[in-house]
Amino acid sequence: MKIINVVGARPNFMKIAPLMAAQKESGRIEPILVHTGQHYDERMSDLFFRQLGIPEPDVNLGVGSASHAVQTAEIMKAFEPVVLERKPDAVLVVGDVNSTIACGLVAVKLGVKLIHVEAGLRSFDRSMPEEINRILTDAISDLLFCTEKSGVENLRREGIPDDKIFLVGNVMIDSLMANKEKAEKSRILDELNIKPNSYAVLTLHRPSNVDNPVVFGRILDAIEVIQSDMPVIFPIHPRTQKNIAGSELARKIDSMRSLRLTEPLGYLDFLKLMSNARLVLTDSGGIQEETTILKVPCITLRENTERPITVEAGSNILAGTTTDKIIAAYRKTIGNSNREIKTPPLWDGHAAERIVKVLLEKL
Ligand code: UD1
Repeated sequence: MKIINVVGARPNFMKIAPLMAAQKESGRIEPILVHTGQHYDERMSDLFFRQLGIPEPDVNLGVGSASHAVQTAEIMKAFEPVVLERKPDAVLVVGDVNSTIACGLVAVKLGVKLIHVEAGLRSFDRSMPEEINRILTDAISDLLFCTEKSGVENLRREGIPDDKIFLVGNVMIDSLMANKEKAEKSRILDELNIKPNSYAVLTLHRPSNVDNPVVFGRILDAIEVIQSDMPVIFPIHPRTQKNIAGSELARKIDSMRSLRLTEPLGYLDFLKLMSNARLVLTDSGGIQEETTILKVPCITLRENTERPITVEAGSNILAGTTTDKIIAAYRKTIGNSNREIKTPPLWDGHAAERIVKVLLEKL
């Protein structure tokens, strides 16, 4: 059986690594890897392939950055001939990026079965590009694999039949568990001259936060308070970097002595940095999940989350994006060092094996 696996952007890589390995391991699936090239910088792409042991893509569509319409259309145009030529039994897409929906649409229109890993997550905020990608991809998928029970409930509510839905756990956590020991060897704490449990980590890249200088400014006002207590390490996403270049916000960042910007970090360095942090502040989806397993408090700088299980588990606080609320969440977090953080069901490092078992039965 031949399956085309699709990756495009950074958060896809840690999801596809265990899936490629488990397909190969089965001896009955020939996994083909297609990289759309949505992310292309060494630090946003190649480094992850090397560190996660992902095989070289069989095909790189080299699409790169553009507006949503252009990027999605270019991926579709470039992916269609690959599906026609390779004649796969199924196409597997992960997550919620533009590459996910673009390749999903191409597959189903050519009559090829579509598998969606990380299905059913909903923020119920349709101003997020990812929410549109999730709803549409799920609506056209044949097999839908969920990380948490909210995903299953959302899909049922949208009328997806039960026999297409599988609660299997979280492939991103498979990668985390497989690499945690290796990440221990990272020298990033020494390089940054910081001690375990004495610093915060910040990541920001959502358009609603970083494309809007007012919102970004409010978040930075809260960070100003936090960095007066402890160093804040801020590996900066290219989108965020481009937005602030030469602006008033860049001057504000420069003025904060203990807010320390770094380039985007590789997987192992970032895992080490998160594992040893006193707390993490983020607008990422995956980081909300990873901190739950690492048992590090996470303050999410958004009004909503499509991953409610991380809040139920006790690791994640939804703080929103106003200065006062972020500072309040921060004070609450550091005032409560004995919080109990639960592990979500099936987040045990074996999700990819469960998915492959279903694929062998159903395809
Ligand atoms: C994309 C995903 C988002 C995911 C994020 C992780 C969509 C709609 N969004 O957002 O869900 O959380 O990736 O990073 O698919 N750029 C570079 N180098 C790169 C990639 C991007 O410089 O390797 C710059 C470009 O200026 C580009 C901008 O970053 O215009 C945004 O890239 P894009 O892929 O459009 O979206 P992200 O914000 O990265």
